[in-house]
Amino acid sequence: MAAKRILLIIGGGIAAYKSIELVRLLRKAGMTVRCVLTRAGEQFVTPLTLAALSENKVYTNLFDLKDEVEMGHIELSREADLVVVAPATADLLAKMAAGIADDLATTLLLATDKPVLAAPAMNVRMWLHPATRRNVATLRSDGVTVIEPDEGEMACGEYGPGRLPEPEAIKQAVAAALARTAGAVPLSGQPDFAPASHRPLYGRRLLVTAGPTHEPIDPVRYIANRSSGKQGFAIAAAAAEAGAEVLLVAGPVPLPTPPGVVRVDVETAIQMAAEVEAALPVDAAIMVAAVADWRAADTRAQKIKKDGSGDVPPLALAENPDILAGLAKSAKRPPLLIGFAAETHDVIDHAQAKLARKGCDWIVANDVSADPMGGETNRVHIVSKDGVDSWDRLPKQAVARKLMEKIADELDLRSPVDSN
Ligand code: CTP
Repeated sequence: MAAKRILLIIGGGIAAYKSIELVRLLRKAGMTVRCVLTRAGEQFVTPLTLAALSENKVYTNLFDLKDEVEMGHIELSREADLVVVAPATADLLAKMAAGIADDLATTLLLATDKPVLAAPAMNVRMWLHPATRRNVATLRSDGVTVIEPDEGEMACGEYGPGRLPEPEAIKQAVAAALARTAGAVPLSGQPDFAPASHRPLYGRRLLVTAGPTHEPIDPVRYIANRSSGKQGFAIAAAAAEAGAEVLLVAGPVPLPTPPGVVRVDVETAIQMAAEVEAALPVDAAIMVAAVADWRAADTRAQKIKKDGSGDVPPLALAENPDILAGLAKSAKRPPLLIGFAAETHDVIDHAQAKLARKGCDWIVANDVSADPMGGETNRVHIVSKDGVDSWDRLPKQAVARKLMEKIADELDLRSPVDSN
């Protein structure tokens, strides 16, 4: 099988230097890479460096007639298996969302008929700006994979989400996107990916929900819970390590996206339910999120003010959809459906009742009597109709890996779902 071909578009930004390492990693994984540098990108990395590392010509200018003779821009945009934009600046994302084609990079992005993956990098305010939020939502609904930036200290001295993910994480997302386009066909020449025997979930689609939900009361207040998201993120990471294509629907938590995981951030239970529905079909769904049971019955458009009377404003609640129970009844019910439960007492009894009530296949019952939410370890019991499998207290990563082994054994008995 021919090596996978990546067209890498490098936007301008201090993070562009990481594209050099990305090219090296993609090449090492057996892919061919063709680089396109935007004019701003050229201020940070040189075509010469990229040409040497990619062992390919680097393209910078739409009006380079010689290239139009050698290879037209339409052809350049379509000969790749995947177009990767890294770093994707706020400007590039905006142009992509609006369909603007005013230089070589944006023209290729508009002309391509291949899947596109964007790895954003920008200042935290720019990332959180409503315009960028809108553009990212538009791109995602257009089918572009926009991975979440990392959170941390920025070159500009501010702190927050907006850092370009590490090249290794982008490479993993590239591998996941290629696996999605190729169905269950393994990537060619990938010496630094784990062998198939270590990737027991290869060719499987897994959905993980994680973190709390925030239910707005008014523009400044919300109902929340103490879920840290750590166990759900560890499960998504372990699923990707095991070779699965992983979609993580995450409530608001400041955790980095695990390598190889496609993450969609949501705030409310209703948004989470919609993203879960959009992710189907999947081979297994692992519902780790601590979804708020109730939301404010009517969210106020304006901040609720004290009126000085000492009267407390009424807060009417409405019940949120039970995403897990809904999934269990759906026509697209995942073949393996796993719920989580946090219990302080009568752990097994409550879990058994919950298993029946929710209609799922397993409940991972988390005994939180000794360790509050947000800790680093969990003591869990896997409760199913076949009985109870109780594990020792383990670090959350170890729980996640052990759970993946159990899921892989279970899925081995079933053929993969057809996601087309
Ligand atoms: N869940 C869900 N949608 C909800 C509520 C919960 O999908 N609206 C899922 C969670 O992701 C988890 C399981 O259901 O997998 C937890 O069920 P829940 O009834 O919320 O359990 P507890 O929070 O332990 O609640 P209780 O104390 O009421 O038993």
